[in-house]
Amino acid sequence: MGATIIDGKAFAAKVREKVATHVARLVDEHGITPGLAVVLVGEDPASQVYVRSKGKATTEAGMKSVEHRLDPSTSEADLLALIRDLNADETIHGILVQLPLPKHLDEDLVINSIDPAKDVDGFHISNVGLLGTGQKSMVPCTPLGCLMMLREHLGSLSGLNAVVIGRSNIVGKPMAQLLLGDSCTVTIAHSRTKDLPGVVRGADIVVAAVGRPEMVPGDWIKPGATVIDVGINRVDGDAGKTRLVGDCYYASCEKVAGAITPVPGGVGPMTIACLLANTVTACCRSHG
Ligand code: GUN
Repeated sequence: MGATIIDGKAFAAKVREKVATHVARLVDEHGITPGLAVVLVGEDPASQVYVRSKGKATTEAGMKSVEHRLDPSTSEADLLALIRDLNADETIHGILVQLPLPKHLDEDLVINSIDPAKDVDGFHISNVGLLGTGQKSMVPCTPLGCLMMLREHLGSLSGLNAVVIGRSNIVGKPMAQLLLGDSCTVTIAHSRTKDLPGVVRGADIVVAAVGRPEMVPGDWIKPGATVIDVGINRVDGDAGKTRLVGDCYYASCEKVAGAITPVPGGVGPMTIACLLANTVTACCRSHG
């Protein structure tokens, strides 16, 4: 019997519907329209696609969407000036600077110049610290979406062994914090981990976030485990076309896992839904 497919697309549609209902109430009853500003520096094709879909989803939820597309040669001073303006803009409740930034820009400096209350990515150092100490913070969208799917599928996560493959600041580390917050026993595995297959085989929950196409085969997966595949990798397919694959080898993992997220249609849509939810949260907190 194959794994249950965790349908991130359907789940995300429900979250987005709830967000839209909440937004409509804020507009009708309080005259407040939540606003999200997305800043893209440069012309990275994947980032352009993400930014476009974030803007579209924001508008569809009834919120104000502002996009700032800046030249790849934009200076750090100009980018920081834009963020200063957005921090001061009362119609903007969420600010997202799409990563990665061009090499000449200091990513940490830029992210930490965002007002933490508007940091809907949850990447500002003070939000990272709040999350790490279990305090109220903005939670990074991708790990939040993964956690929501895990809770929905498994109910309580308490006491489960979770392995997060990948130690990025965007996914791996915050994911581990969230799983710890839900009382999992958490291992963060990475490129230097010894006996990675053995480590993954001990996991009730596997979150793969390494960005290496189909790296995790089915024989690493404990029978019945829940597999969350964060990877979105473009590889060569048939007839000169490209296709999207995850970090897990879906065909074999699906045979062993108890449940698995597909790529596409798993984590990706939940990330955007959580971004919208974070923007509404930031808006509500800013109005007390
Ligand atoms: N690049 C890849 N994922 C993300 C994300 O979640 N937020 C931002 N700002 N940039 C990204």
